[in-house]
Amino acid sequence: MKVHLQTYGCQMNKLDTMLVSNALKDAGFNLTDSVKNSDVVLINTCSVREHAEQRVFSHLGHLKHIKRTRPNIVVGVIGCMAQRLGAELLRNGAVDLVCGPAQIPRIVELLKKTLQTRQKSLAVTEDIRQRNFEEQDLSIERFESTYGIEDKQLAGQAFVRAMRGCNNFCTYCVVPYVRGPEVCRPPESIIQQIKRLADRGVKQVTLLGQTINSYKYKAGEKIYSLADLLWMAGDIEGIEWIKFITSYPCEQFFDDILQAMADSTKVCNYLHLPAQSGSDRILRAMNRHYTANRYLELIDRARDTVPDIAIAGDFIVGFPGETDKDFAATKELVRKAKYRNCFIFKYSPRPGTKADKQFPDDVPYELKQKRNIELLRLQEKISEELNKAFLSRQIRVLVEGLSKKPHTGASGYGGHSQLVGRTATEHIVVFNGPLSLAGEFVNVRITQTSPLTLFGLYEGRQA
Ligand code: SAH
Ligand code: SF4
Ligand code: F3S
Repeated sequence: MKVHLQTYGCQMNKLDTMLVSNALKDAGFNLTDSVKNSDVVLINTCSVREHAEQRVFSHLGHLKHIKRTRPNIVVGVIGCMAQRLGAELLRNGAVDLVCGPAQIPRIVELLKKTLQTRQKSLAVTEDIRQRNFEEQDLSIERFESTYGIEDKQLAGQAFVRAMRGCNNFCTYCVVPYVRGPEVCRPPESIIQQIKRLADRGVKQVTLLGQTINSYKYKAGEKIYSLADLLWMAGDIEGIEWIKFITSYPCEQFFDDILQAMADSTKVCNYLHLPAQSGSDRILRAMNRHYTANRYLELIDRARDTVPDIAIAGDFIVGFPGETDKDFAATKELVRKAKYRNCFIFKYSPRPGTKADKQFPDDVPYELKQKRNIELLRLQEKISEELNKAFLSRQIRVLVEGLSKKPHTGASGYGGHSQLVGRTATEHIVVFNGPLSLAGEFVNVRITQTSPLTLFGLYEGRQA
């Protein structure tokens, strides 16, 4: 049986796809890169914005068409959309199986059943916020620690979940409703997993959580925080770089985490700290528990403790009621924050969220688009300025592999291919070198910069 797995959405979803693919392989299924050769198509989906769901629906339309000539093909939808839409998705002509994120430990059993009986199956969590989750969490924890070893998609790198779910309820956000309540994984599971990854040659781990800085686990008298995890991971032989995403702007453990960044050579000086807006009025309506000034204070403190820290932000433009004045406050915050980069999204009302129920989506699409572009341009200028500081410097890069799009800026290296890698601060670096460097640390001398990319010359491997 050949299974084709596709993933939409965030790192959490990519991680789940890896767990599912390892579980399927273990059960004797083979994985294939194309729909064409497959008996089963599994789509791991995202609900964060309407656009993400539309892409899946259009793909399902295509699969429905394929099913006309290949009626035996089984199509499954897993992930956040599966949890959000449940039985409604099952009514889609293309779909045979629906399985939410909290139910993935059952994926093999469900798929086998569907293949045998040719009947539709549904596995979503009823009342996900109220569930008595102890038993389910044990099964998901077991699943994760068994199958959570990266299949080397990016040489030398791996993502490890530190926490599931979210309790924050930002008014626009669907995540708490599809991923359920916040659960922190036991530190020993996380550390064991990182040790196994290190044994397989992984050099960089990224710890994942929706609000990773509030990671907290009580074991006996001791309360483990993210800072503890960072120190413990740093002690593992072979692990060179540790990153973590995404942080929520709040006091909890903030100083300890920054101190770990400053004091440990392994903890990368990179902080993804979404602000979402620079207007206090909008932040309140979003149920974000800080003001623009508080946010900027946190950033100042981060820079005091870790002078070369690179900070990334997320913003939503066109939140209900966002005026020109609110947007001006966002631009002001972006100017002051001096981000390394920003992810900017147009507000998308999500069914079931408080913002969708209480506020009309009253900023016209064209205005959202205009603000999106304006904010991107502003950030681009800032990134361009900041990146110039890298010119002529030699920097350490973890090589990912071949660069997907050809760039013109990379200088030649004996006719070698164009490679791409990242720095400890998540800067993308393009240079020419042998493909055998994938997964290795190298030195690159920066010769040219752009807002999004640094270009340079390969100057040798690092021990
Ligand atoms: N837990 C992370 C982010 C989760 S979603 C955090 O709190 O930062 C990733 C990003 O998607 C968010 O930071 C936000 O900027 C954006 N986002 C979430 N819901 C959205 C919506 N309804 N419309 C537009 N953007 C949204
Ligand atoms: Fe969504 Fe807010 Fe939780 Fe992030 S912190 S996942 S934006 S509810
Ligand atoms: Fe991630 Fe999208 Fe779900 S952002 S948690 S895959 S809704």
